[in-house]
Amino acid sequence: MSHITLSTRKSEEWKGIRIALAIAPQDISPDTAGKEAGDLRFNPSEQTATLSLGTKEKLTLEIVRRAGGALGKWVTKNKVTEVGIDTASFADLGPAPDKLAFALAEGILLGSFRFDKHKSKKEEPTPANIYFLNDDLKQVIEQAGIISEATNLARAWAHEPANIINPVTLAEWVQELAKVEGLKCTVIDDKQLAAMGAGALVAVGQGSANPSRLIVLEYQPPAGKDASPVALVGKAITFDTGGYSIKSVEGIVGMKYDKCGAMAVLGAIVAAARLKLKTPVVAVLTAAENMISDIAYRPNDILTTLSGKTVEIISTDAEGRLVLCDALTYAQQQFKPRAMINVATLTGGVVVALGDTRAGLFSNNDQLSNTLFAIGENIHERLWRMPLDDEYFELLKSVDADFKNSAGQRKAHPIVGGIFLKQFVSDETPWAHLDIAGVSDWDKEMPYCPKGASGFGVRLLVEYLRGLE
Ligand code: BES
Ligand code: MN
Ligand code: ZN
Repeated sequence: MSHITLSTRKSEEWKGIRIALAIAPQDISPDTAGKEAGDLRFNPSEQTATLSLGTKEKLTLEIVRRAGGALGKWVTKNKVTEVGIDTASFADLGPAPDKLAFALAEGILLGSFRFDKHKSKKEEPTPANIYFLNDDLKQVIEQAGIISEATNLARAWAHEPANIINPVTLAEWVQELAKVEGLKCTVIDDKQLAAMGAGALVAVGQGSANPSRLIVLEYQPPAGKDASPVALVGKAITFDTGGYSIKSVEGIVGMKYDKCGAMAVLGAIVAAARLKLKTPVVAVLTAAENMISDIAYRPNDILTTLSGKTVEIISTDAEGRLVLCDALTYAQQQFKPRAMINVATLTGGVVVALGDTRAGLFSNNDQLSNTLFAIGENIHERLWRMPLDDEYFELLKSVDADFKNSAGQRKAHPIVGGIFLKQFVSDETPWAHLDIAGVSDWDKEMPYCPKGASGFGVRLLVEYLRGLE
């Protein structure tokens, strides 16, 4: 929970500090306000402030979100306990007032995220109330609050190190959360997984004292129970050492974030339940810890996956696709989803290709792909589509098994990851794979996210689910 609470109030009843949004430079004189978006000027004698959105030509909702982040910081830094946002100032800015309010609310709440649980000395920020001075915006502010809190939940869990969150404890945490959120939760343990034939998910976790878990969450809307659900599948490698294909001293640091795909999926289904969306959703978190031991899996091992297809291991560090393939098979077998989206920190190659600006998008369906791409542009969790031509599958030909888990060479890394997953998806299921390795955690502070887990994917998935109504 953020120390900032957002709500609405009637404008005429509000007597405290009033903040107006303003465009620069036209309607602000340069000596009273800055031109930069996010620049906040406070006039103590009048108890008013202006929050600049920069120039009107360049105004986007992302700028509003960033300005929201700046407003939250100002409130926190100055220990302001109550402030009103003058929504009359939203007129004539361009975007509709509800869109402006939504983006501003997101920026405030996302920007106020802190993860100081494990610090012995905590900075306790002063609790603050920010009021949007228009009761008509009540629902919009509530929805933005739910989505932002779900993103912050995904961030917070992603920050937990592997000595706290492992596949077993993650399953316990999710079960507790599911009770609170009214979600159905089924945890399939390593013995049940082995009996089912999920040989890939079991193998990745077999070197760890904390064995694999498949964690299944189901959200049923109040009405329309029989509709086929959207399946969200998330990679939850709670720590990725690389296994016997061990990572370098530098490359291994940060691998607690290899569960960010599953955290995004978790945040999305929690938000779906809190928003009481009309579409049923299932979230499958496929959890393993990729470790080294005398019983760990090895290169050249041949695994039989839940689908029956066999895979020869070339790299134990290409473990994400292995835990995912069994989860994708399971999701299709159990739920016959109307669409399936998996989210994973799958390859370093996607970071080389797209950096930390866009996530890789792979899909067997143009419509689903175009929809996700467009949402990404709108909400600023941006994607870029990559190909899945059959020719890439040549790189995975194996002598002794159906195919390999890695090409064993540098060619087309992120695409080969996608083409591997595609082997486990029926052509009839609209499917998308989001490779978020570059965007799941920031190595520097961002406008509305401190250094660390970004929660990338929560807002994107929720927006997709909301669009299905
Ligand atoms: N978890 C990593 C991908 C990753 C790398 C995420 C860097 C975040 C930052 C994944 O399991 C991995 O190790 N991928 C390998 C695949 C290769 C062995 C085919 C990679 O990208 O090098
Ligand atoms: Mn790996
Ligand atoms: Zn990994």
